[in-house]
Amino acid sequence: MKKGTIFVVLFVVGLLIGAPQSQAGSGGVGGLESMRGGQDLYEDSHAPTFKRWQQDQQPLKRSYLQQPPLVPHTTEEYRINLRQNKCLSCHSWSRYKDSGATKISLTHFRSRFGTELADVSPLRYFCTQCHVPQRDARPLVDNTFTPVESLASH
Ligand code: HEC
Ligand code: HEC
Repeated sequence: MKKGTIFVVLFVVGLLIGAPQSQAGSGGVGGLESMRGGQDLYEDSHAPTFKRWQQDQQPLKRSYLQQPPLVPHTTEEYRINLRQNKCLSCHSWSRYKDSGATKISLTHFRSRFGTELADVSPLRYFCTQCHVPQRDARPLVDNTFTPVESLASH
């Protein structure tokens, strides 16, 4: 048999063996359990209800020093692409005073090699990669996390 034919045969055999397993939909794999528990995906396949953002409210406190602050205002229709970055039209160093927005911090001008740049680093260009609109949401998993002492109010 030619090499190509062997690959095709192996591929088809692989599909036949793999298919029934992927449809079984049983909860844990090898004893592992996801955050949603051992629920069958096919039984519980409705989309979660969409959470409303808290719009234009006081910024929520940060929980640790290096946390990207949550966005305290709506970001709907704020485009970030090659030609425009709506966030920077308010948050850049040349615009923040007029808009009353917090200016982006110096860390946003640092390249991946630690070089200080004259403009926002490509690493930090896509703001919503790290900054998400705030919502006082219930944690997915209960935890005993408390903010660091230096940020706690006394
Ligand atoms: C029209 C102007 C404007 C635009 C556009 C804008 N912001 Fe803001 N943003 C503000 C203002 C004003 C505040 C300060 C609100 C306050 O402190 O109550 C703020 C606050 C924030 C904060 C909180 C800062 C802190 O120290 O707590 C973050 C994070 C933020 N914005 C991210 C973004 C991102 C990401 C985008 C783009 C998706 C964006 N903003 C677009 C005006 C803007
Ligand atoms: C890779 C993650 C990341 C990206 C991308 C990013 N940020 Fe941040 N941002 C952070 C972190 C972490 C902090 C808090 C620590 C610091 O200041 O660096 C922060 C802080 C801020 C602050 C508060 C500054 C202050 O002095 O309190 C503002 C405002 C902000 N970012 C806006 C933006 C905007 C606008 C963009 C897009 C141009 C952006 N960020 C992109 C991670 C990010």
